[in-house]
Amino acid sequence: MTDILFSSKVFTWVMKHMARLSSVRILDALGRFCDECIQRHREMFDANNEPSDFVDHYLAKIEHDTSSSAAASEEDDKEPSSFTGPDGYLNLNKVTKELFLAGTHTTSTALLWSLLCMVMDPEVQAKVREELDRVTGRTRLPGLSDR
Ligand code: HEM
Repeated sequence: MTDILFSSKVFTWVMKHMARLSSVRILDALGRFCDECIQRHREMFDANNEPSDFVDHYLAKIEHDTSSSAAASEEDDKEPSSFTGPDGYLNLNKVTKELFLAGTHTTSTALLWSLLCMVMDPEVQAKVREELDRVTGRTRLPGLSDR
């Protein structure tokens, strides 16, 4: 619940600030935002703990590939993977940014259309209301475990 609330607060903050920016500045701001998130994950990262999200899994892969590439002998002509060293962190920033871009407009547009369709069709609206009340109740937000 706290995670969902934190994510939705961060999301609202990002979207509010983005609304005032041009598209180039939006991409720069998003890149910096992703860098900050990745940096926070790097500070908290512990390879002995179970990864808690996508960035943790990616960091574990960077650490694994970077140390196996350092261990490889110099004669070994195997190309380093795209997860290795500084490129790994650059790619992590790009992938995170891409997921953010691919996931925001699509989701908000789908939600907007769903709301519009329910405004036009009160019967469906009532079914959705009933399912929400039955599955999550009115005291918490829906989560992945409700699937
Ligand atoms: C209602 C919400 C969404 C809709 C309608 C939607 C729709 C689509 C569509 C139509 C494609 C192209 C698929 C293809 O041509 O093969 C796509 C690809 C993609 N979507 Fe979404 N999407 C949604 C949410 C998200 C979210 C939340 C994320 C990430 C968190 C995401 C990440 C991606 C990515 C990374 C691709 C490219 C996949 C690839 O390269 O094969 N999407 N999406």
